[in-house]
Amino acid sequence: MREGGLFISFEGIDGAGKSTHIAPLAEALRAAGRVVVQTREPGGTPLAERIRDLVLHQPMDAQTEALLMFAARRDHARQVIAPALARGEVVLCDRFADASFAYQGGGRGLDWQALGELERLAQDIRDLGLWRERGVLLQPDLTLWFDLAPAEAATRLAGARLPDRFEAQPVAFFDAVRAAYARRAGEHPARFARIDSSQPREAVHAAVRAILHERGWL
Ligand code: TYD
Repeated sequence: MREGGLFISFEGIDGAGKSTHIAPLAEALRAAGRVVVQTREPGGTPLAERIRDLVLHQPMDAQTEALLMFAARRDHARQVIAPALARGEVVLCDRFADASFAYQGGGRGLDWQALGELERLAQDIRDLGLWRERGVLLQPDLTLWFDLAPAEAATRLAGARLPDRFEAQPVAFFDAVRAAYARRAGEHPARFARIDSSQPREAVHAAVRAILHERGWL
């Protein structure tokens, strides 16, 4: 099993079920002797959690939303993710930059290249020693993309709780979000693993474990 820092992100449209797979994977990795940090975006630090509350509930234009997502990410990357990776720990992150390309790029229709510039600003770790092992742009080693048809995801979400600004969007919004995830996966094939989330939960869990096993991480 690989030692050293490992950064895994969990992605997918709302209702695809990604979040239920984070805790069991954390348990499996701990049982294998790893130190695991579970975190989420937007959020993961006191400052970024305050930004989360704003972006999920306050009306704002799409560019403001994107800037806040990346501002929260920069704080989170520097305060939590990079230090954990430098200590050789495993970071399991519920969403990361791919979510901004999917939701703000696909869902809100913002320019893909402009988001790339924000990504370079937010995830630049050149001033941290960590860049020597990971490169100048902080990215996950593996992105688990829980893929599900938006109509099915909407059925799973229905009645679960009061929807936030994203969950309240129509199915067409999530069609665009899903297409943008597919575009990101096409641009980063080595780190993306697509998981068919229409399968029963146990099968999805087995798929997650198989992907880590294949890479020698579990
Ligand atoms: P989510 O993981 O769905 O949290 P929860 O399961 O607790 O509702 O994330 C919150 C929402 O934020 C989700 O609808 C996607 C959205 N989001 C973006 O639009 N852009 C981003 O960059 C991130 C990280 C999340």
